[in-house]
Amino acid sequence: MLRLAHTLDAQLREAMGRAFPEAAAQAQAAGRPLDPQLAPASKPEFGDFQANGALPLAKPLGLPPRNIAEAVVAQLEADPAFGELCLPPQIAGPGFINLTLRPERLAAEVAARLVDPRLGVPTAAAERRQQQTPAPVVVDFSSPNIAKEMHVGHLRSTIIGDCLARVLEFRGHAVLRLNHVGDWGTQFGMLITHLKQVAPEALERPGAVDLGDLVAFYRQAKARFDDDEAFQTTSREEVVKLQGGDPVSLKAWGLLCDQSRREFQIIYDRLDIRLGERGESFYNPYLQAVVDDLKAAGLLVVDDGAGCVFLEGVSGKDGKPLPLIVQKSDGGFNYATTDLAAIRYRLAAAPNGDGAVRLIYVTDAGQASHFAGVFQVARRAGWVPEAVRIEHVPFGLVQGDDGKKLKTRAGDTVRLKDLLDEAVERAEADLRRRLAEEDRSEDESFITHVATTVGIAAVKYADLSTNRITNYQFCFDRMLALSGNTAPYLLYAVVRIAGIARKGGDLGVDLGGAAAETEAAAADRAPLHFSEPQEWALIRDLLKLDAVIAEVEEELLPNRLCSYLFELSQVFNRFYDQVPVLKAEEPARSSRLALCRLTADTLKLGLGLLGIPTLERM
Ligand code: ARG
Repeated sequence: MLRLAHTLDAQLREAMGRAFPEAAAQAQAAGRPLDPQLAPASKPEFGDFQANGALPLAKPLGLPPRNIAEAVVAQLEADPAFGELCLPPQIAGPGFINLTLRPERLAAEVAARLVDPRLGVPTAAAERRQQQTPAPVVVDFSSPNIAKEMHVGHLRSTIIGDCLARVLEFRGHAVLRLNHVGDWGTQFGMLITHLKQVAPEALERPGAVDLGDLVAFYRQAKARFDDDEAFQTTSREEVVKLQGGDPVSLKAWGLLCDQSRREFQIIYDRLDIRLGERGESFYNPYLQAVVDDLKAAGLLVVDDGAGCVFLEGVSGKDGKPLPLIVQKSDGGFNYATTDLAAIRYRLAAAPNGDGAVRLIYVTDAGQASHFAGVFQVARRAGWVPEAVRIEHVPFGLVQGDDGKKLKTRAGDTVRLKDLLDEAVERAEADLRRRLAEEDRSEDESFITHVATTVGIAAVKYADLSTNRITNYQFCFDRMLALSGNTAPYLLYAVVRIAGIARKGGDLGVDLGGAAAETEAAAADRAPLHFSEPQEWALIRDLLKLDAVIAEVEEELLPNRLCSYLFELSQVFNRFYDQVPVLKAEEPARSSRLALCRLTADTLKLGLGLLGIPTLERM
């Protein structure tokens, strides 16, 4: 519906200009052209859109806003193009103009969607026009740390980041999915020292140690580091060796990374996540230049031996500005230095960088001040061109049913593998119960496929459907429920529509589906006839898809897409429960089947953007 809204906006602007030429010319000259303030109607009974622009004109024009609205409406009605788009406008309240699209225009939009695999969502490329090769958008997500377990926070980052990447890709952006893994730092000193001492065979035979061991290794190494001075000294020396490029240290480091990588990959495969690894170590060669350039820019202050940049507008308890430390007093670089180097690399033109125009970082909200500091310093150093957008996409904590940090019954941190296993096991138990109740028998491969799809979908959807900024309560029962705003509910709507086809409804409604066909031709050919309010409600909801996707692309909130899909399923279910489809007479029957198909296609596309595959039966 975005395109119709644009057309309508232009018609309204012209009508305002014709109604009040002087005011329009003045506003234009002042660089603030008259704005019809077109918005979606606040209630369905007001139509599709409302234009509120008459109200702010009352004062400058010295006229009651209703009179202004009347004058604009008179001009609109004189415009034949408007008459083709809308029914006669209504003026409401103090001077709102309510606009209702003509039913035949809505039907034509439906017909156009039916032959368009993108369901009316334009690509950014179509909007970019002149510029052929799109500049990349970086989505930095997942980013676990080597030798540490990937935890639920990383799971959230992985699921949200993947969804945002999918939406941006669908809109035609060149997305660089980057896994900024924590693969460098002083912890490798103790890990390598410990590895060399207790498992020298790992250095000889790759694969001798698996990540389960590695996480235990990390704990052991840390424990030794904390109370064994000799071990501490060796670990520190090991860090220096590693940084100096000592081949044995590098080999040990590489082994640790490989082991972790294999384990992470198992999770990515289960979740169907594509991700390119570019860990912190990648930026090592660029770190010194960050500090040098900050110094040259006059931003670097040496405070207590550490190189820092004092932040503007961020002060500590004592009221003094807080520093962003970029070089520790021992000369080492840190997390912030790496992120500054990463910004420079990502923005630098190819081939010495990515040439990106938008950088998106998906991490827990706890890192908000880190990113605010890093972004501020990069901007002040002049490393961020005007047109570039840099955004931190924060999310809240994952909590258990009790509202506390998610833990196992024994009080340990939850392993992602166990969490996904449990979701699938529970989905399987639910499915077997349902099959027994319905007296259905299905083969084991069906059960495995459905349980896996539903279990993983439930975990993803539960995460994506809450506003990411708030903390989120992890609850298997709620996420696996067949009713409510859940993955099973949405998957079931798709299954229900597939069932209509199985019961003899031809969903492949022949609309003369050549892709190159013009919209007008499709509309002419489509035998679409709608009469029921439930049909119109469903149509209006179906046509919102493009606006919802544009919103997610802009605001990076996947829950908007989830709410839309949930609402669409509800509106569809109401339609299907209240209006006969298979038993209807023609042309209503095929028109309604067309709505069923478009609903299924819209749900599939939307769920696909959430990273959730759909099922034909469940
Ligand atoms: N490895 C970090 C962590 O586990 C997340 C990295 C996020 N990305 C970044 N560019 N800093 O918390």
